[in-house]
Amino acid sequence: MQQLIDKFTGFFKVSPAVAAQAPGRLEVLGNHTDYNEGFVLSCAVGQTTKFVLAPVEGTLCTVKDFRDGALMKFDLAALDQQPPRNGSKYIIGMLRELRKRGFTPFAFNAGLESSVPLSAGMSSSAALEVAVGLAVTAHSKFAIDKAELARAGQGVENNFLGLKTGLLDQFSSIFGKEDSIIMSDFRSAEVIGTLSLPAGYSFVVVNSMKKHTLVDSDYNIRRQDCENAAAILSGVYPGSRTLRDITPEQLENAKDKLSDREFRRAAHVVGECDRVKQAAKLLDSGDVEGFGKLLFASHDSSISNFENSTKELDIIVGIARKDPACLGARLSGGGFGGITIHLVKSADAAEYAQRVKAEYFKAAGIEAEVFICSLGAGARLN
Ligand code: GLA
Repeated sequence: MQQLIDKFTGFFKVSPAVAAQAPGRLEVLGNHTDYNEGFVLSCAVGQTTKFVLAPVEGTLCTVKDFRDGALMKFDLAALDQQPPRNGSKYIIGMLRELRKRGFTPFAFNAGLESSVPLSAGMSSSAALEVAVGLAVTAHSKFAIDKAELARAGQGVENNFLGLKTGLLDQFSSIFGKEDSIIMSDFRSAEVIGTLSLPAGYSFVVVNSMKKHTLVDSDYNIRRQDCENAAAILSGVYPGSRTLRDITPEQLENAKDKLSDREFRRAAHVVGECDRVKQAAKLLDSGDVEGFGKLLFASHDSSISNFENSTKELDIIVGIARKDPACLGARLSGGGFGGITIHLVKSADAAEYAQRVKAEYFKAAGIEAEVFICSLGAGARLN
């Protein structure tokens, strides 16, 4: 953070009044369950987006992005215009969402830096939204509950950018806990448990490098499929509202009420909720191998039921399956490209990552980015 503060001070000739940082996240298990009010295991990662600001007179905001040197400007008087094409859309969006909640936007000079990989499926946009939200509300002493801050970030995606994403990304960025996997319930929007990876195990992330652009993806269609299936199932099971309310047995018994596609979409979500609950028990009892198998099962379901995997993601998970060092691997996040997470012994992690990278290059001709992820703390001021 000190580096960003120094760069900001050098550039704007004034010290920042407030500094905040928010991490990217990894979806560990529980794919596309959040907007179905289901369960997810996720964690914040060590990589964060940092945002510092100093207030200025008037209505003009200037943001220096120290990643690429870009200088972005926007006028608070024009906050309601269409989103611009650059990264300031997340900042403007957050100010709009907070304003809906009673916050009064003020003009500022700001500096931004990030180690969260862009457009990879580690929620770089959520990290920026949360860092901005935290910084501006702290500076104004505007009281906002943490889950509501996450909803404001989700609102940027839903209302400003047209993505019908759930609450997972912003929520994990805010509620992540160092060295922990959090288990969240997206009906009540609460963390309902904290789990740890048994000592000596790590997550390796392998980025397929096929750009993950949710805007262009089938994400919104998948969400609609889930809602259609839930509506039909609520006719069969009065009292059920979303796919979270349906058990695997109930789904099987109502198979003939759904189209094949609706059934498979629902099977993914219902199966994921079930796997999350199983995983929590396995992790509690230290059964890391059992937990790993659930990660592979999740990926299988992405392939056959949710159809949100890609050729590249399947190549990577296929490599993982053949490697004895890997206990489990799956796509993580929205899908349609992006990243995979792999459960391995920490002692094997570095070599494993290089092995997968080399094999992936051989099979797909693509140079993957690999990370050994630490489970980081949630968003904070500093
Ligand atoms: C994206 C969305 C999240 C969630 C995941 C899939 O990351 O932003 O809300 O739906 O995909 O689990």
